[in-house]
Amino acid sequence: MSLPLARRMDGVTSSPVRDLLALTARPGVISFAGGMPAPELFDVDGLRAAFDRALDGEPGRRALQYSPTEGNPRLRGLLADRLSDRGLPTTVDDLLITTGSQQGLQLLSTALLDPGATVLVEEPVYLSALQCFQLAEARIVPVPGDAEGIDPAALDEIAARERPALLYLVPTFSNPSGRTISPDRRRALAEVIARHGFWLVEDDPYHELRYRGEREEPMSAHPELAERAIYLGSFSKVIAPGMRLGWLRAPAELLRRVAILKQANDLHTSTVDQAAAAEYLAAADLDTHVRTLCATYRLRRDAMLAELPAITPSGTTWTDPDGGMFVWVTLPGGADTDLLLPEALRHDVAFVPGSAFQVGEPDRSALRLSFATHAPETIAEGLRRLGKALSASV
Ligand SMILES: Cc1ncc(COP(=O)(O)O)c(C=O)c1O
Repeated sequence: MSLPLARRMDGVTSSPVRDLLALTARPGVISFAGGMPAPELFDVDGLRAAFDRALDGEPGRRALQYSPTEGNPRLRGLLADRLSDRGLPTTVDDLLITTGSQQGLQLLSTALLDPGATVLVEEPVYLSALQCFQLAEARIVPVPGDAEGIDPAALDEIAARERPALLYLVPTFSNPSGRTISPDRRRALAEVIARHGFWLVEDDPYHELRYRGEREEPMSAHPELAERAIYLGSFSKVIAPGMRLGWLRAPAELLRRVAILKQANDLHTSTVDQAAAAEYLAAADLDTHVRTLCATYRLRRDAMLAELPAITPSGTTWTDPDGGMFVWVTLPGGADTDLLLPEALRHDVAFVPGSAFQVGEPDRSALRLSFATHAPETIAEGLRRLGKALSASV
């Protein structure tokens, strides 16, 4: 007998990345699958000191208590200052602390999407965002684009036809492609969004991890998007994903409604983690820590890009990301990376097949590699194994 479940569960499958994490935990596997920050770079001493201060004295007792749904005001203030410094003027009242930016995506899907509503996405797209949109029973429509990002003319035409509720973008160092939308494209897209009047959800967990080029302003900073842009940030890639801390910036009325949803969802994000994060931001020099992350990840990206020509068949292409954690590889001639994965696992190396990140007819020739987790020598060894898997599968 089939399990009696709500209709919204139909067709919602477990994330292939999460499932792969279980397979690749086997000792000896070099995994390029997860978007995992390098654990040796976590600032354990700085965080231990921050937790100590957060738990100190009478305020320390409050750090273990229930707390307001909107989040720790000191943390929100420190985050608002960082966002304002990036060119997105923000106050404490503009921000809600979330349990990872993933919760922000989930809350927004509930707040903004009726069943059957249309969500526009770039392709390939972050797959746990797709899960949220699917659970909201949305119609997910990809917008075509190129190396500079989605195409404004295509967005204009699809928006006129589909009347979308929102456009979801990771404009800077996208997961999974590693691409960044160019400044001209951002301007043109902002103009189309404002003209049609749908929401932009700007998911921006990677922007601090820049290895070349100039810092970009968030797309949400475009003045015409003031009432239309929702910005999601996260500590996961720069401090520690296990703390599950993110934030959501939205126009006041929407933020108030989302806070009501969060009450029903988890009452509030962990009080003690928020207090420790505020202590950490106030005392540690996050910018220096980020510079160390960037110096390390830059070498890892370079190691990956240096090895790819030797291990891939001729005609293979890949992205050359300015930052973030991912390289998107496209194999030539009808390759099928869903079939390549079991062969790769037999060679003790893992990646995520590109089909996982696609909405329409999956292009099975692509795969996502994360370079963040391993040292350059391990990256080279892992890619040599992938090369053998590729040779074995043709
Ligand atoms: C684009 C994107 N959005 C959101 C998330 C979720 O991040 P968090 O750990 O803040 O929930 C990730 C994590 O990999 C991501 O890549």
